[in-house]
Amino acid sequence: MTNWESRFSDRAQLMRRSAIREILKLTAQPDVISFAGGLPAPEFFPVERIQEATETVLSERGREALQYSTTEGMPELRQYIANWMGAGEMSISPDNILITSGSQQALDLIAKVLLNDGDTVVVEEPTYLGMLTIWKPYGLHFDAVPTDRDGLIVEELEPLLQRNPKAMYSIPNFQNPQGVTLSHQRREQLVKLLVKYGVPFVEDDPYGEMRYEGEFVPSVLRMEAAYRGSTGIDGSVIYCGTFSKVLTPGLRIGWVAAPDALMEKLVQCKQASDLHTSTINQFVTYEMVRDEAFFRGHIQKLRQEYRARRDLMLKLIEENFPAEVTWTHPEGGLFLMVTLPTSLDAGELLKQAVEQKVAYVPCNDFFIQDGVRNTLRINFSNARPEMIEAGIVRLGNIFKEALVAAPVK
Ligand SMILES: Cc1ncc(COP(=O)(O)O)c(C=O)c1O
Repeated sequence: MTNWESRFSDRAQLMRRSAIREILKLTAQPDVISFAGGLPAPEFFPVERIQEATETVLSERGREALQYSTTEGMPELRQYIANWMGAGEMSISPDNILITSGSQQALDLIAKVLLNDGDTVVVEEPTYLGMLTIWKPYGLHFDAVPTDRDGLIVEELEPLLQRNPKAMYSIPNFQNPQGVTLSHQRREQLVKLLVKYGVPFVEDDPYGEMRYEGEFVPSVLRMEAAYRGSTGIDGSVIYCGTFSKVLTPGLRIGWVAAPDALMEKLVQCKQASDLHTSTINQFVTYEMVRDEAFFRGHIQKLRQEYRARRDLMLKLIEENFPAEVTWTHPEGGLFLMVTLPTSLDAGELLKQAVEQKVAYVPCNDFFIQDGVRNTLRINFSNARPEMIEAGIVRLGNIFKEALVAAPVK
């Protein structure tokens, strides 16, 4: 018999299943109120529009849509994304856009193309677990920049960039897991440092369109280009985008925007990996987004609905969580992060929560440092209002009882 364990590559030995996906399995029963996944609300998926778009694609370009296609992706979709990202302020070439299977694949390709074993990478802390899951098997050293309500604390960044890390990764808008956004002023400081040190900066932006309050802030990509007096993708920023949150994640259509030299390597890497992203899904996505009235209206509707759910959740948290607990106030996105007193362990309390049919994600694995046990991520987009109400009341009671048993010292 083959002993498989002894034959795994060093890289595979370092791979782990995502803790979130494991929790999601526990919460798959219909009677569990889950605030755990980063799931959009399925009741707002544009099912009929997707059906209509699929029929149009199949009847008008069916044979092309079902054929193998180029690695770079559907030209019209790449052009659409280039215009959308440029928003009249940048003139982005579609040659700098590669369509990927979700932005998750973009993160995988970037790692394969840029990272060697043992490299140092700078990240904000806490950061997206899905990125850590892909990048950790490279045996990296992560340098963590702390965050506050305005995103990563840029003052703490320069000494880390001076050591010439291989790359930096950040989610400037409505960050996962905290929901916080990097302020305009900090973006200005950040782009100066990026231009000074030339360290590749991966801007992961799945939630940028989902703003419910406050002023729009331009992407780091756009601000870095403007600071250099450029309007194209030719600096140190690599931008990852996705249609997962603005249409549906099931189509798996994302993209990466990168400078020419890196784009060539990303294309080679994607070609080796899966040839190209699903042709028909790209065609269907394009068919929907080129219908401006639909696409804009749909994003507006999502903003309205998610804003209402966020507001409801914040109000209920205020009313039901004990005074010793704090939480973030996201201006957009799908998540907020709760901090319990250090006498409580969010992972332990999850067991009780699941018994009481409510779930969240403990955030310890989102941190680079060990031992942060008192934070948890709550998703507010997926559960219906009556479920949000029932779930937050239950969590409030669990936290109150736990505090009686383990009071703050
Ligand atoms: C920060 C971040 N990046 C990337 C992704 C991956 O998104 P997708 O692969 O669906 O585009 C997610 C998904 O939740 C995310 O939160």
